[in-house]
Amino acid sequence: MMEWTDRHCRFFHRLLTRRALIYTEMITTGAVIHGDRARLLGYDPAEHPVALQLGGSEPAKLAECAGIAADLGYDEVNLNVGCPSDRVQEGRFGACLMAEPALVGDCVAAMKAKVKMPVTVKCRIGIDDQDPEPALDALTAAVEQAGVDALIVHARKAWLDGLSPRENRDIPPLDYDRVYRLKAAHPRLPIVLNGGIVELEQAAAHLGRVDGIMMGRAAYQEPWRLLAVDPDLFGEAPPFASPKTAAEALIPYIEREIARGARLHAITRHILGLFRGVPGARAFRRHLAMEAVKPGAGVAALRAALALVPDVGAPAAHTAAA
Ligand SMILES: Cc1cc2nc3c(=O)[nH]c(=O)nc-3n(C[C@H](O)[C@H](O)[C@H](O)COP(=O)(O)O)c2cc1C
Repeated sequence: MMEWTDRHCRFFHRLLTRRALIYTEMITTGAVIHGDRARLLGYDPAEHPVALQLGGSEPAKLAECAGIAADLGYDEVNLNVGCPSDRVQEGRFGACLMAEPALVGDCVAAMKAKVKMPVTVKCRIGIDDQDPEPALDALTAAVEQAGVDALIVHARKAWLDGLSPRENRDIPPLDYDRVYRLKAAHPRLPIVLNGGIVELEQAAAHLGRVDGIMMGRAAYQEPWRLLAVDPDLFGEAPPFASPKTAAEALIPYIEREIARGARLHAITRHILGLFRGVPGARAFRRHLAMEAVKPGAGVAALRAALALVPDVGAPAAHTAAA
């Protein structure tokens, strides 16, 4: 998610779940090819498994970027066919590609020819006045034919004309049944459902109908939920017993990053929702938001903020308090 899932965020999320696949922000092919690669594509080995999401629509450039991603050791490369922003439409990629399934197929085929790792696509169920039945069928047929390894479907349309990107994440209604029908029609193609999933119970219910689920805003805004992913969805022990112990485990990373020139706030901004619903959460957030932006702020500010919240055990404590 742009501006959100940078490498600091991903490192933190990986402390909360060992099993979930983590995605980068969308990075355009132009930025990958001409930009500061270390800054845009650098990641910590602890983030694995991590997928690089690309924005673009030129098969040769996407193939080149997929090759770069493979050289850097990414675990998956994903093509964005869902982002509705104007900037993206001008570049003729993102959600407007829903209207060009053959081109998306060519993009996937070019990437598949270049790399051995999984190549996936993230799309909407349709755009503007498209009928989601044929529109999603056409896109799916094109990418399946090209050998796509999985299709992630944000289960609502994008209205490119008239809605802002933010409105496009809420206003077009969710249509999970459309995605279930897609799965039923493509039993061999892994289909991942995205959109509006907050509780892991919801996720578990969807998993009876599709192969995977993707969480966006709930994972970012209330990252404590991720601590339940390994136990609830994978039947494995959580990496940490509580959100507080997970936050403490971030301290050595912060010290390392600050020594390399990072600002404290650039890291701690991603953990502000960690205690949402728990007594002391507001004080934690306020302390960190005010102190971490100060010049020279270090881990002492995080330690002081953590002293304001109790070490509540299971994530269930949040649900109870929320
Ligand atoms: C701040 C923000 C940035 C986003 N950036 C991206 C992006 O770079 N690539 C993408 O595929 N989706 C992006 N999204 C959309 C989410 O991945 C997701 O599809 C959408 O929020 C619906 O899922 P959710 O209800 O679980 O959040 C972004 C969403 C937000 C809130």
